[in-house]
Amino acid sequence: RTTAMRDALGREINYLRLSITDRCNLRCRYCMPAGGIPLSAHSALLRYEELLRVARAAAALGIDRFKVTGGEPLVRRGCTDFIRALKAVSGVRQVTLTTNGLLLPPLLDELCQAGLDSVNISLDTLDNAQYQRITRRMHTADDVLAAVRQCAGRLPTRINAVLLPETADQLISLARLAEQLPVDVRFIEHMPIGGRKALSAASSSVLDRLRTVWPTLAPFGERRGNGPARYYSTPALQGYIGLIQAVSHSFCADCNRVRLTSTGILKPCLCYPQGTDLKPLLRGGAAENALSTAIEQAVWAKPAAHCFTRTQYPAEQRSMNQIGG
Ligand code: GTP
Ligand code: 5AD
Ligand code: SF4
Repeated sequence: RTTAMRDALGREINYLRLSITDRCNLRCRYCMPAGGIPLSAHSALLRYEELLRVARAAAALGIDRFKVTGGEPLVRRGCTDFIRALKAVSGVRQVTLTTNGLLLPPLLDELCQAGLDSVNISLDTLDNAQYQRITRRMHTADDVLAAVRQCAGRLPTRINAVLLPETADQLISLARLAEQLPVDVRFIEHMPIGGRKALSAASSSVLDRLRTVWPTLAPFGERRGNGPARYYSTPALQGYIGLIQAVSHSFCADCNRVRLTSTGILKPCLCYPQGTDLKPLLRGGAAENALSTAIEQAVWAKPAAHCFTRTQYPAEQRSMNQIGG
């Protein structure tokens, strides 16, 4: 294929996020209610072979980079084999993973051999007790750090820290990870998804606070990765500092992505409830070109911008573990 796939606004869409499960070994307060959310039946989740059919159709349309996400993708058995198979699909250039890191260490060799291109690891605080309060489980920030250390230097590694009111004092210590290790550290504004209220997102002071320690932290003009992060760098840091300002800034004008929920809904935008259910096509014996047409139509209908505040559209009620971020 020589021409890129574009939406109605001319944006090139080349990135598909695949949520392979809604299950997770954590219960992060900002992501799930305490009791968890009702999980989809196993039969409702797309099988790996079905995900690969979507990937083949998408790759043939010009989507060449894929994110494997969840819930927690590594709780699904066979995730490594899936990544290997995804990487082998004709036209697929890059496969990356977003994980909470806890199950990563014993799988890392296999994942690297499978061709994984980079890993994002969620870590909102370095304080073990606070980590347990946020995640409502007994794992610790040290467990996650052990995974980060193993990944650093082996494959491009980024830390995702959602900005929470209670972790304001963690900013500098988290950023120091980019000093100690060749990893990027990204701060993410909390998004009010799944009927949840926005937490104080205020990322506006993040740069100012970081510059009290690294005064020369400057915008890095180029794009890094496939997501919406904007990066900053200074010679004092091995890795980059990233900001994902989903609430205070709109990065929708150059959005390049669509996402597939674990049950097979192709969502053109994170925060709208609309989506195209691909499962009937996958399970109903439709021809492969029907799948391609459905993907093209969903991409074409991509909204101009997300909105977490305006009310003329119904809000997305699915929670993050169902959508995959
Ligand atoms: P890379 O930088 O290439 O690793 O991609 P990424 O930033 O898309 O990966 P990741 O899965 O780590 O996502 C980071 C954060 O960005 C998560 O909180 C996502 O929910 C958020 N995000 C990714 N894409 C979008 C988007 O289109 N809209 C919004 N509002 N948030 C997004
Ligand atoms: N707002 C912003 N980021 C979120 N994540 C989960 N829920 C939210 C939210 N409501 C983050 C996770 C993970 C990434 C995929 O999305 O912490 O790092
Ligand atoms: Fe699991 Fe990620 Fe949700 Fe935390 S944010 S409960 S790690 S899916």
